[in-house]
Amino acid sequence: MPTRSTVILGTGSYAPERVLTNEDLSRMVDTSDEWIRARSGIRERRIAAAGEATSDLAVQAARRALEDAGVGAADIDLLIVATVTPDYPMPSTACVVQHKLGVPSAAACFDMNAACSGFIYALDTACALIGSGRYRKALVIGAEKLSSVVDWQDRGTCLLFGDGAGAAVVGPGDKPGTGLIGTRLGALGEDTDLLCIPGGGSRSPTTAESFGRGDHFIKMKGKEVFKLAVRVMEEAARDILEQHGLAATQIGLVIPHQANLRIIDAIAQYLELPVERFFVNVDRYGNTSAASIPIALDEARRAGRIKPGDLTLLVAFGAGLTYGSALIRW
Ligand code: COA
Repeated sequence: MPTRSTVILGTGSYAPERVLTNEDLSRMVDTSDEWIRARSGIRERRIAAAGEATSDLAVQAARRALEDAGVGAADIDLLIVATVTPDYPMPSTACVVQHKLGVPSAAACFDMNAACSGFIYALDTACALIGSGRYRKALVIGAEKLSSVVDWQDRGTCLLFGDGAGAAVVGPGDKPGTGLIGTRLGALGEDTDLLCIPGGGSRSPTTAESFGRGDHFIKMKGKEVFKLAVRVMEEAARDILEQHGLAATQIGLVIPHQANLRIIDAIAQYLELPVERFFVNVDRYGNTSAASIPIALDEARRAGRIKPGDLTLLVAFGAGLTYGSALIRW
């Protein structure tokens, strides 16, 4: 754990303007609004414009977070972008964002790939580096343009995903016991094949054949992922509560990764918490992977659902398979 407290100084989020409803989807694949709502709780998702890349979404969210924190881009010395849909395989999206925001050249800038757990991984990294005293202020962003890797002809996946970005400014705190007070990160590398984009990397570089097979799109074994998501998120939540000697009832608000309302309902049931204690916006955005938790966190703060002194639990699960939980005292 960091040697000094590290706190979230401000948050921001951004969702592209274009809304794709379940009705719209039902004109693209053989599905219905009723089926999608019943199986996932999703009503609509946002889709970035053709010329809009992940860094563009990230920059919008970051500007709002900087404004909320009252921190200038010139003060940032650490910039992490969690994403699985970078602008390019190389260079990092963080470097593109750095340039667009005017973050100084002396800042460390890098991307982090932990899929839907990416924001918690990045937040933990930023807090550890700030806690060590080596960095002063970090911008932690989760941003995705998943619409660019979704197979819009695969009804088993295309209903789930959307585009967006969320960001947090992190810095040293002056009150001990506040800020990020604990994290629990992990991964189940034996299950990489359950949720992946098989093509386009060094294992299987893009060829005409792989492109024809659609290997550049997200592939998912939905049922297996669903079961693991419930089990692993519940465990990640329980572990961190136990580590800190806390009961679930002491958590003011749980901000779970927004993948599927049925997953959130199941976790609430297993933790024996009312579902009202969980922040939910999956109905409006679908699954935005690394952007999901920071968007929800920003919306929860702006809606007044987090008060000074409150405890917030973040919990996520994603491709890798990665998982993570984090406890924040405000
Ligand atoms: N519209 C209508 N019918 C659909 C459909 C769609 N969009 N997608 C699948 N179906 C059909 C299937 O073909 C199947 O029909 P069959 O019984 O005749 O074979 C039936 O509905 C059930 O499909 P299944 O895949 O078993 O549904 P499900 O209850 O598992 O729900 C998901 C599918 C994708 C919603 C669900 O598995 C899920 O959310 N998984 C987790 C995904 C996730 O969270 N991933 C990211 C983790 S970070």
